[in-house]
Amino acid sequence: MNTTQCLMNPFYQDCYFSDYDGQAESFYIFIEGNHLPRRLRESETLHIGETGFGTGLNLLSLLSCVLTDPSHLISIKYSSLEKYPLTTERIKELLHPFEKTLGTNLTLYLTYWSSFYESLTPGWNRCVWEFPSVQLDYNLYVGDARDWCREIEPRAVDAWFLDGHSPDKNPEIWSPSVLQSVYDKTAAGGTLASFTASGIVKSPLREAGFFIKRKKGFGAKRHMIQGTKS
Ligand SMILES: C[S@@+](CC[C@H](N)C(=O)[O-])C[C@H]1O[C@@H](n2cnc3c(N)ncnc32)[C@H](O)[C@@H]1O
Repeated sequence: MNTTQCLMNPFYQDCYFSDYDGQAESFYIFIEGNHLPRRLRESETLHIGETGFGTGLNLLSLLSCVLTDPSHLISIKYSSLEKYPLTTERIKELLHPFEKTLGTNLTLYLTYWSSFYESLTPGWNRCVWEFPSVQLDYNLYVGDARDWCREIEPRAVDAWFLDGHSPDKNPEIWSPSVLQSVYDKTAAGGTLASFTASGIVKSPLREAGFFIKRKKGFGAKRHMIQGTKS
């Protein structure tokens, strides 16, 4: 099996992340795209929302950005959704290239995930996981993004990782009703970032009320987007 086949989600015929360097891509788009290195240093609590949990690489990129400082404990609420949760074995296989760089956080995450996965039920699933300098209130909605829309409190999320598959292969996760809900659930001053600058995504986000700008994309991609709710 080549790398692209290995990274493929069979439900959408698309990769979970870039076969060039998924960890660098995740960091560039979602972590830097939401200015999280600074916000993590300056905050004691943050609520992150994500559409498309997949392997959890974005969560791990976020955790690896927290400075392990015993005097600065941060509490992160992470609300994500996933229609097809992956087994621990499949996550291990997909994240194998980042074993060294993700280090202890990956080992801890896989241990937590394996018992969490066994207990998953449709709808919201919640756990509190401890990582160095981070208390993580982890919430996963198992089901379709279009149903989840109604089930997260309004004006609560500080930063969004909009990470479905490409809009031509996975239009439902980018549907206007999902993107309107993303806006409704965002706190004032909250932000979003996405790898896609497609009009199908940009226009409904602008219509919902986000200020959207384009930035150079990761690797060979021309553009990505960043958004702010004023
Ligand atoms: C590009 S992958 C996400 C990659 C991920 N953030 C990671 O770190 O591995 C997109 C994810 O969205 C999920 N997905 C796609 N459409 C969905 C929908 N309508 N509802 C819920 N999950 C969906 C897919 O199963 C897939 O895991």
